[in-house]
Amino acid sequence: MSIYQHCINPSCGKNYDIAEVLHRCPACGELLDVQYDWNKLQPPKTLKHFETFWTQRSEPHRFSGVWRFHELLPFLPPEKCITIGEGQTVLQRTAGGVGTYTGLRTGKLFLQYEGLNPSGSFKDNGMCAAFSYGHFVGAKRAACASTGNTSASLAIYSACTKLMESVIFIGSGKIAYGKLSQALDYGAKTVQIAGDFDDAMERVQQVSKELGIYLVNSLNPFRLEGQKTIMFRVLEALRWEPPDWIAVPGGNLGNSSAFGKAFIELYQLGLIKKIPRLAVINAAGANTLYRLYEKENLRWNNGDYNKELTQKFYAAMDAEGRKASTIASAIEINRPVNLSKCLRALNFCSGVVREVSEQEILDAKAQVGAGGFGCEPASAASVAGVKKMVAEGIIAEDETVVCVLTGHQLKDPNATVAYHGTDKNFYEDTLGKRGVKSTPFANRPVSVPNDIDAIVQLLR
Ligand code: F0G
Repeated sequence: MSIYQHCINPSCGKNYDIAEVLHRCPACGELLDVQYDWNKLQPPKTLKHFETFWTQRSEPHRFSGVWRFHELLPFLPPEKCITIGEGQTVLQRTAGGVGTYTGLRTGKLFLQYEGLNPSGSFKDNGMCAAFSYGHFVGAKRAACASTGNTSASLAIYSACTKLMESVIFIGSGKIAYGKLSQALDYGAKTVQIAGDFDDAMERVQQVSKELGIYLVNSLNPFRLEGQKTIMFRVLEALRWEPPDWIAVPGGNLGNSSAFGKAFIELYQLGLIKKIPRLAVINAAGANTLYRLYEKENLRWNNGDYNKELTQKFYAAMDAEGRKASTIASAIEINRPVNLSKCLRALNFCSGVVREVSEQEILDAKAQVGAGGFGCEPASAASVAGVKKMVAEGIIAEDETVVCVLTGHQLKDPNATVAYHGTDKNFYEDTLGKRGVKSTPFANRPVSVPNDIDAIVQLLR
């Protein structure tokens, strides 16, 4: 077997055939990796190798920002890899503006705009991989629980390809309208559960098992294979020179886990010499990882991480009735399913976890928007986290930092309009009640009578 599924728990470590449909290790319940025996495969000898494909972009698999790195995620033959044109994203080097805002020297902050994907978030990187695999094993329906972006992504792959139907589970009233409107528009069967994301996550696992529906949440190891390519594209844009830091918002912790796996493999293959450090940023209102990693000192510990500590933490959370709540609804998650893999990533990449307030998220979001492209609130957590870490002296001002902007600005227009707008009730309802006290970077619309002189006067 040169490619197989492997339990990440070292005291179990069981391997399973690549064609077995599994969500977790059947023996111990831990998460699974897609594992490659690189000696039997043909990984590239240098990352520059990928540049030889640039002239072949008229071919869909070379155009895809995911599949053009196929040799680093070769779990399906190329002809079985489905693409809708994902991964055409850009790395923006900031000059002043948001870069200065974080406290970094000019030109040291880079923004990786994953909002430019077909469904408007980074999820398409992983979805094309999981969707391809689900279709390959003969599934007719795929399902996910979602705070909105995973569901939009699954729905767009269903709508574009008609190869699997999509069923999405969402918490009621928990999704930004931009995302909900995508799932509805693309024709996904949308199931609103009276509960939050964690409830939907639990139910979707039960239902998929019972009905044989293919699960595409990020505990699906193939999803994370696709998400590795975000880091390959970052390296590509930096001419294969790893940055000092990668900062990413943390929700279900799929992205951070995938980035960790990408760097572990690149390092093992000798394709990078330097390992970037990883900063995972929680919203303060959804800070499970921050508390476990920074306050309780939970560590990967070669896979033997303290499960009792985690269970106790969740039990206390339930007993106290603590529920995640943040304007960054994408990361409003209590029990991140990829916690163990994220701990592994933090261990390999000398990681740091920080939490940021609603105010810090929204101010950072306004700064990102003012520089162009824009992002949704969860994405701006990465920028807010970097600002905090520069102020703490953990990130030096001359270090190179890449913030992954995970979702498009139009995903959640409410947060943006409440911040910049003049409607006090809307502000109070959307942001004020969350403790956002000021809007220092607001760009207020100006009201003017429908009168040419008044308008000219205003703009003169
Ligand atoms: N940013 C955005 C815009 C997201 O939609 C998500 C996750 C994250 C960050 C966090 O990424 O889970 O890999 O740590 N959204 C999921 C969803 C949970 O259902 O769309 P993560």
